[in-house]
Amino acid sequence: MNVMIVGGGGREHALAERLARSPRIGKLCALPGNGGIAALAECVPIPATDLDALVAFARERSIDFAVVAPDDPLVMGLVDRLEAAGVRCFGPNARAAAIEGSKVYAKDLMRRYGIPTARSRVFDDADRALEYAASAGGPVVVKADGLARGKGVVVAEDADQAVAAVAAIMKERIFGASGDRVLIEERLSGPEVSVLAFTDGRTIVPMVSSMDHKRAFDGDRGPNTGGMGAVAPNPHYTPELAALCMERILRPTVEALRAEGRPFRGCLYFGLMLTADGPKVIEYNCRFGDPEAQAVLPLLESDLFEIMLAVREERLAEAEVHFSKGASCCVVMASEGYPGKVREGMEIHIDSGLPPDTVVYHSGTRRDGETLRTAGGRVLSVTAVASTAGEARSRAYAGVGLIHFEGARFRHDIGTAGGLSHGA
Ligand code: AMP
Ligand code: GLY
Repeated sequence: MNVMIVGGGGREHALAERLARSPRIGKLCALPGNGGIAALAECVPIPATDLDALVAFARERSIDFAVVAPDDPLVMGLVDRLEAAGVRCFGPNARAAAIEGSKVYAKDLMRRYGIPTARSRVFDDADRALEYAASAGGPVVVKADGLARGKGVVVAEDADQAVAAVAAIMKERIFGASGDRVLIEERLSGPEVSVLAFTDGRTIVPMVSSMDHKRAFDGDRGPNTGGMGAVAPNPHYTPELAALCMERILRPTVEALRAEGRPFRGCLYFGLMLTADGPKVIEYNCRFGDPEAQAVLPLLESDLFEIMLAVREERLAEAEVHFSKGASCCVVMASEGYPGKVREGMEIHIDSGLPPDTVVYHSGTRRDGETLRTAGGRVLSVTAVASTAGEARSRAYAGVGLIHFEGARFRHDIGTAGGLSHGA
């Protein structure tokens, strides 16, 4: 079958690497792909948000199956468009993707179906939101309703910061229409867990759990980023907690979406916080996380493409989904200045001698003849798999030590106790 992957980051590289192993796949294309994916798939420079061009490409190239990885095209309805053109897809349609596309919708769904989450209020009037933020007694979290490139959440330390966040989102409209409504919610604390799960709208099969490291600097300090590294499995997520979350959060969410006439087919991402009051949902994403995918997918032992087909055909219950018992560690190497403005085009050198079971996924790179250059904030995600978390970590950092580019920056504490995300 001819398959296309939409997207061009480290997550898509990890997806491409797994898909390329499937004997069922003939031609593999990536839109737009990147300098690393180019070794596995034909990369065609169509942006992931150019829906018309993507549908035209799928038609022209007789694509049978599409894997839509990023949030924007999912929320914009790319799956609806491709399916209407006869291309089967892995990924939710726009109605189901609303679980990420509108935080207000997700919150309302959780309230109506009794799924545990932070208490929160919704505002569509800037002055009322400002008034409420100014009067907030304790720490609060301000969230833009719509997509905001992962930057729409502000964990405010005090009322002044909350007011500033509301003003930036609703008055200055830094995220445009995504900030027409905001949520102001109670700040929770506890370890964070990312659970990615395959679901066909009825059956849900969680993948091995993981932990993102969102802050830019060591010791979990600095601004939030897209993610500076991830480990899998998450050391806090015991089998007992996994069973509890399945019963109170994972299954109820899939059933709620189906009951709403929005059955979800694809990868549903549960961002959970393990609070003293039990596990609660911090956010849903309608897709694989980045860098969680780079940590989780290398542990998958089954054929990813067979699972994706089973999800699309609503027979996930029969599919084989096995993960290895080992552990993985993914360290992101970023450009100087990330998550702010960065300089691109630096030459990247990767010395030989990568440790065993270590892969360098490309997040933002491009090929310039024989030279590999940086092309984004997050540049590479170095992932290692081993039988223990400690060994995976040593291998990943040994791999990082072999990679050089001007201004390269990474966290030194991915997967250590000091680096683990504890929210608030
Ligand atoms: P998001 O962009 O939704 O992934 O949120 C970014 C980060 O903000 C999360 O990973 C949490 O660390 C933090 N966060 C979001 N909501 C809350 C909350 N209610 N309480 C504490 N931290 C939160
Ligand atoms: N790593 C968090 C996300 O992909 O949204």
